[in-house]
This record gives sequence, C-alpha cells and structure tokens, in this order.
Amino acid sequence: MLTVSEIPQCREVVVEAQRAGNRVGLVPTMGALHAGHLSLVEQARRDCRMVAVSIFVNPTQFGPQEDFAAYPRPIEADLAACRAAGVDLVFAPPAETMYPAGHVTTVRVERLTNRLCGAHRPGHFDGVATVVAKLFQILPADSAYFGEKDYQQLVVIRRMATDLDLPIRVVGCPTVREPDGLARSSRNVYLSASQRQQALCLSRALFTAVEEVAHGQRDGALLIERMRKLIEAAGAGRIDYIDIVDPETLEPMAVVDRAARACLAVWIGKCRLIDNVALAPPASGR
Ligand code: PAJ
Repeated sequence: MLTVSEIPQCREVVVEAQRAGNRVGLVPTMGALHAGHLSLVEQARRDCRMVAVSIFVNPTQFGPQEDFAAYPRPIEADLAACRAAGVDLVFAPPAETMYPAGHVTTVRVERLTNRLCGAHRPGHFDGVATVVAKLFQILPADSAYFGEKDYQQLVVIRRMATDLDLPIRVVGCPTVREPDGLARSSRNVYLSASQRQQALCLSRALFTAVEEVAHGQRDGALLIERMRKLIEAAGAGRIDYIDIVDPETLEPMAVVDRAARACLAVWIGKCRLIDNVALAPPASGR
C-alpha cells in the first residue's frame, strides 16, 4: 500500500494505473474508519483493480461551532485498517495542500442543499462539494463510492458530478449498522453508554416508518409525527429535523405513494446523529 500526501504524485499513480488498463475506485473519507467505510472499500474492490482511499478531515465542511478540532484522527489505526482491507493507495494530505494560501473557489450545489442537513448546517455542503470536486481531480478514478448513510451528501455529489460533467461514476452503497440497528458513524465514539442506548431511537423510528409504509400508510405528516413521538419518548435531545422526501429532488412528500426517503437528524447529548431509510409503499397501495 502506498501512502501519499502530495497531489502530483497521487494523480500520477492513478493515471498510470489507468494507462495500464486498470479501473480505479476512490473512497473519500475523513478517517476514523469503521465497518461503514470498509464496506465502501469492499465494493470498490469488487468493481476495480485499484482502490484508493482519501483521508482528510475537511475544515471547510465544519461550522464554527462544530466538532472540527475534536473530530477523531487515529491515522495509524486507519492506515492499518486500509492495509488489512487491501487498499492500494491512501491519499492523506495536510490542510495546506488542499487549501493553500489564496484559495477562493467554492463549488455550490443549489436547491438540494437548502433542506434537511443543509438547513441546519449553513455552508456544510459547499465544503463537501468543493473538497470532493478537488478529490475527483487529484484522484481521477473511474468510480467513487459514497454511503447512503449520508443520503443528502450522496444526492448532492451525484448532482455535482452530472452538472460539472465530471467523468467519474458515483456509486451509492447501503448503510452499515450495528447489530442493534444504530448506523455506524465516526461520531458514535462521542456517546456515553446511556446515550448509546438512547441513540437507538433513530433507527427504531425509521424502521417503524418502513413497516407502516409497507402496511399501506401513505400520510407523510402522520408518519413524521409517529417518528417524532418515538424519539421524544426515548428522552433524546433536540430534533433538528424529521422529513420524508423525494429520493432524488429531496423535496418533501406529503403522500408516500411512490419510493421515498425518510431522513432525520437528532442531537444525543453533544452528538448530532443522522440516519435515513428507503420507504417503499406496497404495489397495491398505488
Ligand atoms: P466520512 O464521514 O468519513 O464518510 C466517508 C464515507 O463513508 C461517506 O461516503 C459516508 O457516507 C460513508 N459512511 C459513513 N458511515 C457509513 C455507514 N454506516 N454505512 C455506509 N457508509 C458509511 O462523508 C464524509 O466523510 C465527508 O463528507 C467526505 C465525503 C469524505 C468529504 O469530506
């Protein structure tokens, strides 16, 4: 496994592999790798001869009050995990390499970023879109892998790649969960034992909605209210949002009469957790 921190060398390794006829897969991450990240690596390995992982805690996607400084950075463990997972190339640049003095360009994806997390984290998706656009240039892979865990991010990046004609296939991969349902997240390490229990209310609420929709419930407001009650009953902290949206436009759906996405963000103590699921109404309910 090659670990690189400089842009020209990184690009050369990728281009060289492609010139030799190999497909390259890219998995962008902020490190603190867990089974969710590694499932993206596995998918990339199934599709591509060469797998590259980027590890960069991107300052521009954190708000001033957010956890940039505290974000976990276990770089040695991350490199070991990449090696064990069969990663070929790790790009782990310092912040000055990604944002040298004089940097003033931002990629902004409109509309899709106004709602859900975008409404609560101003500028967050500008930071994500900008860094991912840069990573797509630095590691010009054939395919890039993103988790459905961050569903809005996946939709935003897909749109950006289409709108900017970036020659890279954006692949969405299913959310990896703990056995009890909690979505894997680098931020779960912030949870105390009792908060860890409370955090189960996110996936419980979402899977209740999945079941109700499967049994014919189509009333979006009612489903949202039911999820809100379950989360409040768990004694969790502030709810940022609970929404049912169109899977592509992210516009709210009042009636779940076709495929939809239920998305939520809830504070558990000082930790903001997000999760989402696909809602699929029964064919007879159409
Ligand atoms: P990070 O939070 O490290 O996540 C990296 C990738 O892993 C994202 O595509 C995310 O959706 C995916 N992922 C995280 N938890 C997952 C889970 N439980 N199951 C499946 N996939 C999961 O997302 C980012 O970093 C950054 O915003 C980034 C795209 C790297 C840009 O800085």
